[in-house]
Amino acid sequence: MKVRIHKLFQYLLETTEAEPEAIVGFSLATPPKLGDFLADLDPEMPLDWNNRSFRGLPELRGHVLAQAGLEGICAPDDVLITAGAAEANYLAIRQLVGPGDHMVIESPGWPQAAVLGQAIGAHITTVSRDEAQGWSLAPDRLAQAVTPGTRLIFLTNPNNPTGRMMTSDELAEVVAIARNAGAWLLVDEVYAGLEWEGVRAPSVAGLYERGITTGSVSKALGLQGLRTGWLICRDPELVMDAVILRENGSEIMNIMGEVIGELALRPERLAPALARARAEGLANLARLDAFVAATPGLDWVRPQAGLIGLARLPEGIDSDDFARRLLAPPWRTFLLPGSAYGQPGHIRLGVGGGASVRLEDGLTRVAALLAAWDR
Ligand SMILES: Cc1ncc(COP(=O)(O)O)c(C=O)c1O
Repeated sequence: MKVRIHKLFQYLLETTEAEPEAIVGFSLATPPKLGDFLADLDPEMPLDWNNRSFRGLPELRGHVLAQAGLEGICAPDDVLITAGAAEANYLAIRQLVGPGDHMVIESPGWPQAAVLGQAIGAHITTVSRDEAQGWSLAPDRLAQAVTPGTRLIFLTNPNNPTGRMMTSDELAEVVAIARNAGAWLLVDEVYAGLEWEGVRAPSVAGLYERGITTGSVSKALGLQGLRTGWLICRDPELVMDAVILRENGSEIMNIMGEVIGELALRPERLAPALARARAEGLANLARLDAFVAATPGLDWVRPQAGLIGLARLPEGIDSDDFARRLLAPPWRTFLLPGSAYGQPGHIRLGVGGGASVRLEDGLTRVAALLAAWDR
């Protein structure tokens, strides 16, 4: 299985050394610092792995279930702590899908499933989200794509990159479609926890015996560098298959990621951290709304949840050209072109990152470049 580079990663690789002065579309809440955790860390903690669970620290797995509202529905052994949601997705996709198997994915969506599915030699059907309907995923479109032979449905909720949320009712319909076909249903919840409209959607691991929930501390808590995420599924064989594949990759989780992740998810830390991220996100969202409304030709569907959304560029501007010109002097501002998501007429806007990303400066430069654009 040879994994090929995706446009999104290609763009990040090509631009990592650009040293932008501002970032528009930062996808993490303001990252905490190591010092925020030092008082609760034990300097005598051994850094070996003896006598630890291959599934992750039991207390951490307990917190993972609690934050997803799955306590009493899923057991701690249904949780595997992973190196981010990315590893959780990888382990599940790799162990479930074989050459020629049928996968159903969404567009726009997080590219990982398509990249891995192509490398595996799976047959992939893409279901388009509808921008005119606020980027919703119509259940009847999904139902048409899923067949009795479908092995895996991969979705994000909230959606990356549009911030669209599936409600409980919509999720119930999706579960019914998956169950009817006997398909596995993986819903990546990496952006859950910051809902701007309504409440957090239920996790599929609690709704369906072949439902797989993945998530992490990366986005709402800004702790991406810890590489602490999870996979939750009530099927013991799926979880064990993931443990086995991980043993043949990175073997075990990293202990600092688990220990700090456990501290971060303790209720007394989690609640204030989410409250801070919500307050910051809401203020920036209001700012972005005002910016889009005031910028001729720009339009967007305000995200319902999570830290990012897609804005439509004025007719005739290609997102790649726009993003590259914006990154170059004199603008020196980073944003992700919609082409990274198969949406060349869009750009990704976001509300994360705190003061260090200089969102206001970035928006001023986006407006200036749009005004200067020669169409
Ligand atoms: C939908 C989605 N899934 C997974 C990931 C990977 O996140 P993590 O840092 O938890 O591995 C990302 C990162 O952007 C994402 O947007």
